[in-house]
Amino acid sequence: MTYQTLLVEQVAAVGLVTLNRPSALNAINSELIDELNTVLDGFERDASIGCVVITGSTKAFAAGADVKEMAGLQYPDTYLDDFLGRWDKVAQRRKPIIAAVAGHALGGGFELALMCDFIIAAENANFGLPEVKLGVIPGAGGIQRLTRLVGRAKAMDMLLSGRTMNAQEADRTGVVARVVATEALLESALQSAQAIAAQSRTAVMMLKECVNRVDEGALGEGLRFERRMFQAIFATPDQKEGMGAFIEKRKPDFGRK
Ligand code: HXC
Repeated sequence: MTYQTLLVEQVAAVGLVTLNRPSALNAINSELIDELNTVLDGFERDASIGCVVITGSTKAFAAGADVKEMAGLQYPDTYLDDFLGRWDKVAQRRKPIIAAVAGHALGGGFELALMCDFIIAAENANFGLPEVKLGVIPGAGGIQRLTRLVGRAKAMDMLLSGRTMNAQEADRTGVVARVVATEALLESALQSAQAIAAQSRTAVMMLKECVNRVDEGALGEGLRFERRMFQAIFATPDQKEGMGAFIEKRKPDFGRK
C-alpha cells in the first residue's frame, strides 16, 4: 500500500514509518494523521511486528501541525469535529513506539514525538512548542507531557517564550532517552526497536501499560482540557493574526507593545 504523506516499511520485526511531506518540513495535516493511524492500526494487528519507529527527515521530524490547513478554521468547527481527537490515538497504541528525531520537532511535531514511548534524538535535533508566537497554544498534549517531563519552571519558560531546546538540553532535562550522531540516528533507533521486539511481547506490552498508569488519571483530564482550550482559541482574532502572519511571512501584530 502507498501513502501520500508517509513511507512505510518493515525492517525485521520493526514497523518503520517515515513522515514524508518534505516541501512542508513534514508539517502534520489531517491526511498525515489519518494515514499514520491507519498504518499504526495495521502494525497493532500484525503479529510479526514487535516495535514501531516513527522518524522524519534529517532537516525535520515535523515542524508542527499544518498551519496552512488550520489557519482558516473557526470555533465551533474545531469543537464539533473534536479537532485533534484523532491525534491522541497515537498515544493509545499498545505496542511500543520510538520517535527518532532529527532536525525540527516543533509544535504538533514535538507533541507527536512526546506521544511516543521515548525519543532518540540526533545531535541536530531541536524541540519546541512555539504556538504562543502564532497566537495559539499547543493542543495535542504537549503542555501536559512536557511539564511532566521537565517540571514547571522549564515548561513555563519554553511555553511562554516559544523557545526551542537543542538536543543536549533535551537530554539533560529528560525529554529524550539519548542523543546520537545525526547520521547514526535511524540505525540506532532500529537497533533499540529490534532489541525490544526480541523480548517477550507480553512483558513489553505490560511494561508500557504499567508505565502509562503512572499518571494516567490526571493526564487524561489534562489532555481533554488542553484540547478544548485549543479548539476554543479559534474563536479569537489572535489566532487569525498569528497564523495569518506565518503564512504571509511577516511578524504578527497582537496589538501589544
Ligand atoms: C505549514 C509549514 C510549517 C507548518 C514549515 N512550513 N512549517 N507549513 N505548517 N507548521 C512550510 C513553510 O511555510 C515553507 O513552505 C516550507 O515549509 C519550508 O519552511 P521554511 O520556513 O522556508 O524553512 P526554514 O526557513 O528552514 O525554517 C524552518 C522553521 C520554520 C524554523 C521550522 O518553517 C517555522 O518556523 N515553521 C513553523 C514552526 C511552528 O510554528 N510550528 C508550530 C505550528 S502550530 P513554502 O511554501 O513557503 O516553501 C502547531 C499547533 C499544534 O503545531 C496544535 C496541536 C497539534
